[in-house]
Amino acid sequence: MTASSSFFTDKTAVITGAAGTLCSAVALRLANEGARVALLGRTLASLETIAMQIRAAGGTALPVACDVTQPDQVERARAEISSALGAPWFLLNGAGGNQASAITTTTEFDPAELAADRPAELRGFFNLNLQTFEDVIRINTLGTVVPSQIFGRDMAALGRGSILNFASMTSYRPISRVAAYATAKAGIVNFTAWLAAYLAPAGVRVNGVAPGFFVNERSRKILQNPDGSLSARGRNVMQHTPFKRFGEASELLGGVLWLLNDEQAAFVTGVTLPIDGGFLACPGV
Ligand SMILES: NC(=O)c1ccc[n+]([C@@H]2O[C@H](COP(=O)([O-])OP(=O)(O)OC[C@H]3O[C@@H](n4cnc5c(N)ncnc54)[C@H](OP(=O)(O)O)[C@@H]3O)[C@@H](O)[C@H]2O)c1
Repeated sequence: MTASSSFFTDKTAVITGAAGTLCSAVALRLANEGARVALLGRTLASLETIAMQIRAAGGTALPVACDVTQPDQVERARAEISSALGAPWFLLNGAGGNQASAITTTTEFDPAELAADRPAELRGFFNLNLQTFEDVIRINTLGTVVPSQIFGRDMAALGRGSILNFASMTSYRPISRVAAYATAKAGIVNFTAWLAAYLAPAGVRVNGVAPGFFVNERSRKILQNPDGSLSARGRNVMQHTPFKRFGEASELLGGVLWLLNDEQAAFVTGVTLPIDGGFLACPGV
């Protein structure tokens, strides 16, 4: 059942990474608020699943298969969305993530990583594959810039709208082992502020959220053991998270909706809001 009327009613929201752990929850909530949601990602079947849930609840959803790093694919998505749902009022750049092979297996330099016969399980900074490193930067950074350029153009032409980017705790402090992801997500905070200042005269606000640790399919393997108990890394995260738990996708929604809402956050642009159970506030000592 959709809400009777809200700021979001009958406005179009484009959500990238819409079948993911966090943005599927955002998509369901925006649709429940009455927004028409365009769901973008590379895998149509998983987008269809979210679209079916939205339609079953009385909402409007359009799944569109699209690689957000590819401008021609995003242009095609824009054309399809514009004719089916109208020009977007909101763009949420949720597509992103890391790749296992772009993560070092060691938290600091190990002389063994320089050896020709290094152990197969050891992957230090000097062993990282640069193509994978670039892929992680491409999806997280260019994957935000490209939709911002293509959908943002419509918003700027109409003189309204709101863009929301997805940063990370590693945007602020470089979390060990994830050099490529940290580099990319630091760029998101900077780009958010840059674009906010640039688009202010166009009446388009640009903000971000920086989620703390929320378990998704990929991070589950890193943060938890197969039996569901915390891994060593998961325990380390807990030591630095005052709330002593992972976040739930539903806990992002208040911040996301507030930042998108032109009535409630009319004078807010260029900020990235940490939603992190206190992680950023906690030095761990
Ligand atoms: N979960 C966390 O704890 C956490 C913490 C901080 C920041 N974040 C950030 O928050 C965002 C959402 O996270 P999440 O946990 O929901 O991630 P997720 O569950 O892995 O979902 C990410 C989604 O992005 C899509 N995607 C990946 N590459 C794409 C591409 N090139 N083009 C289009 N879609 C693409 C994926 O679908 P396809 O593979 O089908 O394309 C997937 O559905 C990400 O930017 C992530 O980096 C998450």
